[in-house]
Amino acid sequence: MRTALVTGGGAGMGEATSLRLARDGLAVGVLDIDGAAADGVARRIVAAGGKAFAVKADISDRAQVETAVTAVRSNLGPVTVLVNNAGIDRFAAFAEIDDEEWDQVINVNLKGAYIVTQTVLPDMLAAGWGRIVNFSSFGAQTGAQHMVHYTAAKGGIIAMTRSLAIELGPKGITVNSIAPGFILTPMARRAIEGNKFPVPHEQITASFPIPRIGKPEEVAAAVAFFASEEAGYITAQTLGVNGGATV
Ligand SMILES: NC(=O)c1ccc[n+]([C@@H]2O[C@H](COP(=O)([O-])OP(=O)(O)OC[C@H]3O[C@@H](n4cnc5c(N)ncnc54)[C@H](O)[C@@H]3O)[C@@H](O)[C@H]2O)c1
Repeated sequence: MRTALVTGGGAGMGEATSLRLARDGLAVGVLDIDGAAADGVARRIVAAGGKAFAVKADISDRAQVETAVTAVRSNLGPVTVLVNNAGIDRFAAFAEIDDEEWDQVINVNLKGAYIVTQTVLPDMLAAGWGRIVNFSSFGAQTGAQHMVHYTAAKGGIIAMTRSLAIELGPKGITVNSIAPGFILTPMARRAIEGNKFPVPHEQITASFPIPRIGKPEEVAAAVAFFASEEAGYITAQTLGVNGGATV
């Protein structure tokens, strides 16, 4: 049984991904800064007959990540599938972004993936096999209003994915990213309720070739594919799961 670690596994797309990978037969380390949310998802996996272990950690804090990964390893075995899903959004006009908010967005959305990947990597190198799936955003591909810091971090994820794929391909490890479109998760709900978009969200999704908001499970299916044995010749790619939003 392979072991996956899903960051931000307590809610939204991380939750859907944790449940999906468990259904596919993987043991799942559910990591989240919200320990209760991670616990809830791990419990649901175990109740459904799967294997899971919850850990609380902030992905931007190396010491917390090291402790969490050690706990996942000792409970579920070496981690050979990593889903760098955890992220935060922030909305501000460029001139209004301060250094604190800039650092927070970059530290969680970009540095966090660097820290978690570096911590987990020895397991994949030892196995000579691994799958890393990083979460970018369609905002990195199209630009997004009042999200300069967020899209800069998510663009960094795409570049990091490509460069890491070059290093790790010869070692049996693939590195890909998912660029979700507009997906109905707690993050998206907060943005909708906070009127963060320039036009009503129904107007945004109506312009997509598939004119609706996406479901977390639809993104989880793409992650599951990248994580699978069959995807072994696919690396350095960014897959948009976005209803065609970038067309
Ligand atoms: N929802 C969308 O429309 C959308 C679109 C494009 C990209 N994304 C990206 O997809 C990923 C998942 O988004 P979502 O909508 O499911 O988000 P969400 O806010 O609904 O869930 C994110 C989870 O990550 C956890 N988390 C946040 N910061 C963390 C940290 N520092 N350490 C550990 N865990 C942390 C949260 O507690 C939460 O459980 C994010 O990287 C997000 O930027 C989302």
